[in-house]
Order: sequence, then C-alpha cells, then structure tokens
Amino acid sequence: MNQRAGLFITLEGGEGAGKSTAARGLADMLRAEGYTVLTTREPGGTPGAEAMRALLLSTTIKLDPLAQTMLHFAARADLVESVIRPALARGEIVICDRFYDSTMAYQAYGLDVDVSAVASLIRLINLRPDLTFMLEVSEETANKRRTARGGAPDRYEEMGADFMARVAHGFHAIAASEPGRCALIDAEPPAETVVAAMRRIIRDRTGR
Ligand code: TMP
Repeated sequence: MNQRAGLFITLEGGEGAGKSTAARGLADMLRAEGYTVLTTREPGGTPGAEAMRALLLSTTIKLDPLAQTMLHFAARADLVESVIRPALARGEIVICDRFYDSTMAYQAYGLDVDVSAVASLIRLINLRPDLTFMLEVSEETANKRRTARGGAPDRYEEMGADFMARVAHGFHAIAASEPGRCALIDAEPPAETVVAAMRRIIRDRTGR
C-alpha cells in the first residue's frame, strides 16, 4: 500500500457500540492530518440504498431472512459501485459504518441464513476492506447508548438479547478467522480514546 492508493476501513459491532461517533471522530482526525476521507454507512449511502434501508429497518413490513440478506447486498452493490470503488480509485480513505461482516453476523449467525450463501454474495461484491474495526461494549453500555440516542427501535433492535448475543458471537468468529483484516476494539472508554486506538492500529498495519 502506498500513499496514493485508497484505503478502505469498516467499523462493525452490535447496537449501541458507538460506531457512528467513532467513525466521525476518526474521519475528523484523518482529515486534520491532510487525508481526503469519505464517510458512509450501510445499509444506505446512496439514494437507492437509503430507500432499501427504510424497508430493511421497518418494523411493520415482514421480510424473510434470505430476502433481508439479498436486499442488504443489493444496497451494498449500489454503494460499492457508485461511491466506494470510485473514491478508492481516487486514492481516498473510505470509512464505512458497517459492511458485509454485518450480514454475516446478523443474518447468518443471528437469523440462521446459510453461511456459505452469505460467503457467495461476499465474493460477488469482490471488495474486501483493508481494515475492519470490531467495536465491543458490555450489554449495559450498549443499552445506555441506545437509550441516549432515543428513537423507536428498528427491526433488529426489536429482536432481543439472545439474538444480539448470536450477533456478537458472529463478529468474534469473523475476527478470529481473519486476524489480518480485523481488529477488536474495546469501545467502553470515551470516543476520543476509541478513536486514538483505531488511529494507532491504522498506523501500525498500513504505515499511514
Ligand atoms: P445502524 O446503521 O443504526 O447500525 O442500523 C443498521 C441495522 O441493520 C443494524 O441493526 C444492523 C442491521 N444490518 C444487518 O442486519 N445486516 C447488514 O448487512 C447491515 C449492513 C446492517
């Protein structure tokens, strides 16, 4: 990796882990150092994917888990091809709040969709993050942060503690199977501490 090549960083974790705040803080820090940084989120980040997000997070429209999986990947394909790949080609740093590990954790580990089906869709997307931060917090902290954020619970927030435990197990399994790409981050401390930890890991692993 050289200074001109793009860098693709993803943030993953359960509900209330503080990913969005950490993503913003990390982007601000890298911009202050002179990097061009694009931040985006999943599902979403394009008009089409944001429309799919509304359907995916709806609590009133039923969706079979395999249909959810394919819709998450449809939203992802639009974001990757129209936003992420072009930004990486311009040499930018892209920070994405969630990516395909969320489908593996939520739909495969959480909702029992076939792991190899999700793996096939991951191959089809054909874009691997250079670095994935998996933010971890206790259930108590997650609940506090979710409550502080307010708003009505979405499809996945309604699923309860057992589901979230399977999702957390999924993220752990992914991190264990791809240690070169994934870094587990203790997200209990304040955001500045979490951002500083992520910044150090980027430097250690990519030289930037
Ligand atoms: P968030 O942007 O507030 O984290 O909400 C996105 C929700 O969608 C969150 O509950 C995780 C879930 N999700 C999946 O179930 N599968 C996926 O592939 C992605 C990207 C998100």
